[in-house]
Amino acid sequence: MTERQRYPENYEPATAAAARSSTGLESPVIIEGRNLYLAFGDNSVLEDVSFRIREGESLSIVGASGVGKSTILKLVLRLLVPDSGHVLIDGEDINELTFEEVLEVREKMGMVFQAAALFDSLSTFENVAFPLREHMRLPEDEVRERVRHALAMVDLSLDEFGERLPAELSGGQKKRVGIARAIVHQPKILLYDEPTTGLDPVTSRTIVDMIVKLQTELDVTAVVVSHDVKAVMRVSTHIAMLKDRRIIFYGTPDQFANSANPDVREFVD
Ligand SMILES: Nc1ncnc2c1ncn2[C@@H]1O[C@H](COP(=O)(O)OP(=O)(O)OP(=O)(O)O)[C@@H](O)[C@H]1O
Ligand SMILES: [Mg+2]
Repeated sequence: MTERQRYPENYEPATAAAARSSTGLESPVIIEGRNLYLAFGDNSVLEDVSFRIREGESLSIVGASGVGKSTILKLVLRLLVPDSGHVLIDGEDINELTFEEVLEVREKMGMVFQAAALFDSLSTFENVAFPLREHMRLPEDEVRERVRHALAMVDLSLDEFGERLPAELSGGQKKRVGIARAIVHQPKILLYDEPTTGLDPVTSRTIVDMIVKLQTELDVTAVVVSHDVKAVMRVSTHIAMLKDRRIIFYGTPDQFANSANPDVREFVD
């Protein structure tokens, strides 16, 4: 029986991990940061930051601008290496890996970048196909089918949008193409950097609905960086707040909403 069939049709992914832990079955830790320190020159950004994310959970990272949220995603992707401390993916320390091994680890991940970050000169089809061409060698008709499927997951039709350049897409459509590109190689980890920033409230809601739907249908583990309280409350199983180079709060959305911590209150209110 698949994970999905065990839950009712309309089950909320945010409760998936809770449902598992209430049955006493803790899923394995898939992403772990251990005592991470990182500075850019003299500017210390992270000091002794640790976190654990279990399979199926979605952790949102919140905090003020410049506090180091995107930096954490870059450490997980190993676009950056910590000055000290370790990042473990599936229990494997990614600090020590060779270039080829890093590519293998990255294959497990899909990244939705702050500001979509599509390739301006590539069509929607080629943008979404990019990770497939990077990670796998697939016959062209299979590439086309996978791209069609990934676009359908974000409610875009390949026939209508496939040949369009990013300049010919709206902001919300660009975000969706960015999400399709992140999921096309079926990663088990999805990383989102500010998925709703710069979008109007209605489009933001559509994108959040989409993230929630993907959590349900793909059963992935997600790390979401966001300023958007509503988005964070809906997509997360856990929330971590960063301040002054450290994690100052970690808990469930319920605990977050009811926390007396003044920094959390400021964010929530
Ligand atoms: N490559 C770099 N070189 C030097 N400083 C950097 C570099 N990347 C990030 N920084 C600095 O590190 C700090 C954390 O940056 P980061 O991008 O992680 O912030 P953030 O929390 O994602 O902010 P925002 O919400 O504005 O996106 C910032 O002060 C930033 O200026
Ligand atoms: Mg950022």
